[in-house]
Amino acid sequence: MNAYSSFAYVYDVLMAEVNYESWIGYIEDIFNRYGIEPKNIAELACGTGNITNRLAKLGYNLIGTDLSEDMLMVAQEKAYDLGVSVIYLHQDMKEMMLPSELDCILCVCDGINYILKEADLKQIFHSAYEHLKVGGLLIFDISSQYKLAHILGKNTFAENHKDVSYIWENYYDASRAICDFDLTLFVQEEGLYRKYTESHSQRAYSAEEIMNILGMIPFKSTEVFDAFTFQKPTTDSERLYFVCQR
Ligand SMILES: C[S@@+](CC[C@H](N)C(=O)[O-])C[C@H]1O[C@@H](n2cnc3c(N)ncnc32)[C@H](O)[C@@H]1O
Repeated sequence: MNAYSSFAYVYDVLMAEVNYESWIGYIEDIFNRYGIEPKNIAELACGTGNITNRLAKLGYNLIGTDLSEDMLMVAQEKAYDLGVSVIYLHQDMKEMMLPSELDCILCVCDGINYILKEADLKQIFHSAYEHLKVGGLLIFDISSQYKLAHILGKNTFAENHKDVSYIWENYYDASRAICDFDLTLFVQEEGLYRKYTESHSQRAYSAEEIMNILGMIPFKSTEVFDAFTFQKPTTDSERLYFVCQR
């Protein structure tokens, strides 16, 4: 099955521990640090809209795009329940089609790790630059090479909830810098559990590799931080944040 098809409907159960409020606090701290007061924001790989809908609730104008129609369906339903208006678009970030002059383009929680080729990454960064107004920000994060190789890779994780259980088997191939995830879900449906399987692949990029690619795009400034801080990443940082200003 494609990545984020059956998984879409249980993604939020499995992300229940994530503190999205403080995640949004960090994004707003970035806006302040760079002196911008964004109005129009596009979020790439927005998934089930956990960040998108919350930002919309705070009064920003949001467009959310994702490769998975199922994730977008969940995001749209949640926007409706929350009473916010977000434009959700089914779009591969490799073929970005957005309004121009955006104040900010966001891509958080691993979206960039799903881009397996450097040439595609360069194309995405270039398109993001083209869609930003002068002074606008491209903000994205990655799970670090350290996390994919040493924490997730070669490990199996499992969780057992009332309505859904999962087994998540990971294999890191250092020669390709790719972590393959085999996900098996058991979802309760009409009193029985149905089994679903999906495979995902994420690329491990070093900060230097990403900075080299960003260096080919004429951003005014590009910085990388250990996630949720404004400190430089360390060798065991698990998530890195990149902020690029046009
Ligand atoms: C880990 S989820 C993160 C979702 C969301 N950003 C969040 O914070 O919860 C990764 C998302 O990336 C999306 N994705 C993967 N490759 C993509 C691509 N080429 N273009 C757009 N979205 C993509 C997946 O469909 C999935 O929704």
